[in-house]
Amino acid sequence: MLAWATRVAEVELSTELPRRWAHSRSVAAQAATLASLLGADADLLQAAAVLHDVGYAPRLARTGFHPLDGGRFLRAEHGADDALVRLVANHSCALLEADERGLRTTLEQEFPLLDRPLLVDALIYCDMTTTPTGAVTTVNARLEEILDRYGEDSVVGRFIRRAAPELTEAVVRIDARLATGGSPM
Ligand SMILES: [Fe+2]
Repeated sequence: MLAWATRVAEVELSTELPRRWAHSRSVAAQAATLASLLGADADLLQAAAVLHDVGYAPRLARTGFHPLDGGRFLRAEHGADDALVRLVANHSCALLEADERGLRTTLEQEFPLLDRPLLVDALIYCDMTTTPTGAVTTVNARLEEILDRYGEDSVVGRFIRRAAPELTEAVVRIDARLATGGSPM
C-alpha cells in the first residue's frame, strides 16, 4: 500500500505544496521507525502517514477542513482501504477540530474513528514529532509552533489547546513502547 500511497500524495502535493510534501514524507519516515511496534499494520501506518495531509491540496479542498477533504478524496477517487481513509480523516484528533468547525457529526458519520488505538496513537506520534519542513521535533515544540503559526484564538489554535493533552499522551504512550522494545501493554 505504501508505494501507491506515496505516488498519490506526491501527485497531489509535491508541485502545489512542496512544504507539505516534505512534511508528509518525513511523517512517513517517522512511521517507518515504528515498523517493529506495528507488525502487520506497519504498511498501513506508513500509507496513512504519507497521505494524512493530502486534503490540503488546493484541488481537493472542498470544505477547507483537510482531514475530511482528504478522507473523501481517498474514498471517492481511489476507493481506498477503509482503515486508511478513517485514519486520514481522523488524524491527530481531527474530531476536536471538526467540533470547532461545526463538522463533528459529518466527520463521525462518514469516517468513524478507528477502534485500533495503537494505529491511532502511532499516527499522532509521527505527525506530532515532525516539523512543517520535515525535521524531527518534540511534541511540545510542535504544539508551540502550531499555536505560534495560527494564533491561540484561531480555530486551529483553539483546537490545539483542547487536543494538546490527548496528543501529548499518545506520543508518551508510543515513546514508552519504544523504550520497552515494543512489548505489549
Ligand atoms: Fe501533518
